[in-house]
Amino acid sequence: MTALAERHGAVNLGQGFPDFPSPDFVKRAAVAAIEQDVNQYAPSAGRPSLREAIARRLERRYGWSVDPARQVVVTHGATEALFASILALVDPGDEVILFEPAYDSYLPSIGMACGVPRCYTLRPPDWAVDRDELAALFSPKTRLLLLNTPHNPTGKVFSAAELGMIAELCLEHDVIAVTDEVYEHIVFNGLSHRPLATFPGMADRTVTVSSLAKTFSVTGWKVGWVAASPELAEAVMRAHQFITFSGAAPLQEAAATALAAPAAYYDELAAMYLSRRDFLVSALRRAGLKPIVPQGTYFVMVDIDGLGFADDVAFCRYLTVEIGVAAIPPGAFYRNPADGRKLARFAFCKSDETLALAAERLQHLGLLRPS
Ligand SMILES: Cc1ncc(COP(=O)(O)O)c(C=O)c1O
Repeated sequence: MTALAERHGAVNLGQGFPDFPSPDFVKRAAVAAIEQDVNQYAPSAGRPSLREAIARRLERRYGWSVDPARQVVVTHGATEALFASILALVDPGDEVILFEPAYDSYLPSIGMACGVPRCYTLRPPDWAVDRDELAALFSPKTRLLLLNTPHNPTGKVFSAAELGMIAELCLEHDVIAVTDEVYEHIVFNGLSHRPLATFPGMADRTVTVSSLAKTFSVTGWKVGWVAASPELAEAVMRAHQFITFSGAAPLQEAAATALAAPAAYYDELAAMYLSRRDFLVSALRRAGLKPIVPQGTYFVMVDIDGLGFADDVAFCRYLTVEIGVAAIPPGAFYRNPADGRKLARFAFCKSDETLALAAERLQHLGLLRPS
């Protein structure tokens, strides 16, 4: 979609990367680290300053205490953290439960570990989880449950009741959870994110993954991490050591500075995305579309059923080529792409100018679309 958007000069609300500057204090910390010659290999588990900053952040935000030396591993973005966790914990034939639509690296990572995916399909408009339907996916072969909250692409924030139910099922079936929490700080409307690891009995059976990318608008840095029990962290560490060995040392140093930001930074981030969400949601509504208002992340799904398009790909192609706004067809987030055919995903991690231009162009949709 990005290539198509470029060819047609479309405003790109497809791929989820901010098009506004990263925070100055984070950029300055990276420049300073390079100038101070933090330029050689970082330890495989990550620079101690960053591991300590991650542990302090978890303690301050969630009251969750981890030992930075034994329970934190720094990786090349959350994507590598997820891959290393899956590779470390899944043996051939083991089953992995995941929720679809799913971030696109999950299924290939499970495939490379020769695991067997078992998908729970979240359905619009509320993407709720039904206990019996989820429980039916567990079997004696279930090894992992992969959870992403706040969730890309739906914008769902799993409720405390849903997380409690997932925790109970993991405990009952002796299953390890791997949680992708990269949008942990982008949550709206008084809701709050709570790591699954902080639920009773889950600290020792959860690998918590997050990264710097979304919280500090540095998706190109690829600084991620895992927090887990010493045993699980060591397992992930063994896989990580031979996947990338370590990530960029000066960026890890800058990440330590970033994570020490005061609480106000995180509040402002959520407030900034809330106003962008509301702006895009109302522009979509004015264009005659049906946005499903997200509780978190910087994505909004739109229900395109009944608009006269064959599927999500046809809609997104039309929108890009004829209207000049690019969105993502969510079929790519499902094992069976037809499951996403009535949806389109828009990203609002964009500057005011980008969003204003998109809003203006979207208003032509009602006039032009096929009846
Ligand atoms: C759900 C989810 N997980 C992981 C990532 C990737 O994170 P990173 O850039 O730290 O690898 C993304 C990025 O879009 C994402 O949406």
